[in-house]
Amino acid sequence: MKKIAVVYSYNSVKSAKIASKIADHLANFSVEKLNVENCTVKEFSIFDGFILSVPTWFDGELPNYWDEFLPALENLDFNNKKIALFGLGDQKNYPENFCDAVGILGDFFEKRGASIVGYTSCEGYDFESSRALKGDRLAGLLLDQENQSKLTDARILNWTKQLELEFN
Ligand SMILES: Cc1cc2nc3c(=O)[nH]c(=O)nc-3n(C[C@H](O)[C@H](O)[C@H](O)COP(=O)(O)O)c2cc1C
Repeated sequence: MKKIAVVYSYNSVKSAKIASKIADHLANFSVEKLNVENCTVKEFSIFDGFILSVPTWFDGELPNYWDEFLPALENLDFNNKKIALFGLGDQKNYPENFCDAVGILGDFFEKRGASIVGYTSCEGYDFESSRALKGDRLAGLLLDQENQSKLTDARILNWTKQLELEFN
C-alpha cells in the first residue's frame, strides 16, 4: 500500500479542517498527517507521495511555515515521488495573486524531480492571474472559502477520486 503524507500547518485552522477532510477521503492508501511546522527531513523522506496544503499569504507568497521548512528540503531528490497540492485563497480580494502559493510550492518540488499530480480545470473560478496556472490547467486544488465555500465539498470529493487514480 502506498504511503501518502498530508502535510499542513496544524495551526492554520481553515486549512487544517480541509486537510483532514482530504485525508478522510483517501481510503486506498496508508495516509499519515504531518505538521509542516515541526516535521523533520527524515520524516519527509519515507513517503511515496505527498499532499501539501499551502494557503497564499502576503499578496502572493508562501505562508511563513513553508518558507521556513523549504531550505531543509533544498538538496533532496524527489524523483519517483508524487506531489499533489491544495491551497486556500481569495479570488475576489486577491485576483492578481489567486492561490499563487500553490504554483510557487509546486515549482520548488518539480525542480527537484517530483511529479506534480492532481491538476484541475480553471472552470468555475474568476481571477486575473495566478502562479498556480500552468497552461490552461491549475497545478492543484484551489479552494476559496471566502467566496465559494459551497463548492468546496464537491471539489474535494472530485479531487480525491482523481488522486486515488493518479497516486497509483
Ligand atoms: C494579509 C492576507 C493576505 C492574503 N493574500 C492572498 C493572496 O495573495 N492570494 C490569495 O489567493 N489569497 C490571499 N489571502 C487569503 C487567504 O489565503 C485565505 O483567507 C485563506 O483562507 C487563509 O487560509 P489559512 O487561514 O488556512 O491560512 C490573504 C489573506 C490575508 C489575511
